[in-house]
Amino acid sequence: MWNDIKSNLSSARVYLLEFLIINLIVILLIIIIIGSFAIEAWLIALLIFFSIILLFFLGRKRKKELEDIKRTINNIRQNVYQEPEEIKLGKNLSILEGDIKLMFEKEKEDIENMKRLQRVRSEFLGNVSHELRTPIFAIQGYLETLLGGALNDVKVNKYFLEKANQHTVNLNNLLNDLIDISMIESGEMRMSFRYFKVDDYLKNFVNEMAPFAKEKNLELVYHPSNERLQLFGDKDRLRQVMNNLVQNAIKYTEKGKIEIFVEEEEKSGKIIIKDTGIGIPDEDLNRIFERFYRVDKARSRAEGGTGLGLAIVKHIVEAHGSKVEVKSKLGEGTEFSFRLKK
Ligand SMILES: Nc1ncnc2c1ncn2[C@@H]1O[C@H](COP(=O)(O)OP(=O)(O)O)[C@@H](O)[C@H]1O
Ligand SMILES: [Mg+2]
Repeated sequence: MWNDIKSNLSSARVYLLEFLIINLIVILLIIIIIGSFAIEAWLIALLIFFSIILLFFLGRKRKKELEDIKRTINNIRQNVYQEPEEIKLGKNLSILEGDIKLMFEKEKEDIENMKRLQRVRSEFLGNVSHELRTPIFAIQGYLETLLGGALNDVKVNKYFLEKANQHTVNLNNLLNDLIDISMIESGEMRMSFRYFKVDDYLKNFVNEMAPFAKEKNLELVYHPSNERLQLFGDKDRLRQVMNNLVQNAIKYTEKGKIEIFVEEEEKSGKIIIKDTGIGIPDEDLNRIFERFYRVDKARSRAEGGTGLGLAIVKHIVEAHGSKVEVKSKLGEGTEFSFRLKK
């Protein structure tokens, strides 16, 4: 009982100064207005008595509210609540209740996000290890076979060496793409945007790529656009985009041609890369931009692919405030395109 009174009063301590000031003012008024000392003494005693009672009740209320808040915070800390609706404070604390609910929701969301990121990370790491293992195992296999005697077998030795070499090339591609992905992740991929003449840019690019198409007896055609058209972007990063898209087009096309166009629009230029290749099944179309996703893993590997190219392309194009579009018909061909501001 006594402890209770003490703790309620001590919880009202925060109001003590205000109470003292009010009491002092009232006491002064009593002294000024009332002439009789005895009545003054009585009134002052009454005043102090009722002040203490008032303080007691105020303190009790405050203590209860603080306990409510403390209990709620503890419950949040111990994951008692699943939904924000379960959080209930007294009606005097309804504003605080709203804020605590918002905080709870935000916290929950942050944790979910962190868990998701963690999952993505470990999945990515798993994929990377798997992708690294494939070429390393292959190289090891060929070298061991050669050392085990095949080196002197003129029928196979060169073939094995070529195979091992192809896998070192794959390994190198993978490392380069991983470096890009990690730069993207850490936000280190600096972009430097400028206006550039898209016609000159694509002409040069196509000249450099033509030999690779020719190796596969494919035609790489550039349809010249408005010579004066200038588009806004990072030429070096766009070069990576074009490389990936055109290399894909060459890789996944057996016969026919690869065409590059620029369509001028009111506020932008649309760069289109179109091939007459194997196409992409509908159900894979929105997954090909995921890291390591390939429609046909074996084929991609055989072509030196890493499955990371389109993920990098997507990121770079999005950093230009744009997006990559893709249309494809199985067995007929594929068209990738993206817009740049003019
Ligand atoms: N022009 C294309 N024609 C057909 N399939 C394509 C084309 N471009 C990409 N793909 C498919 O999308 C997958 C992902 O492409 P990408 O990220 O560049 O990886 P990869 O290293 O395998 O080329 C490829 O494995 C392939 O299945
Ligand atoms: Mg690729």
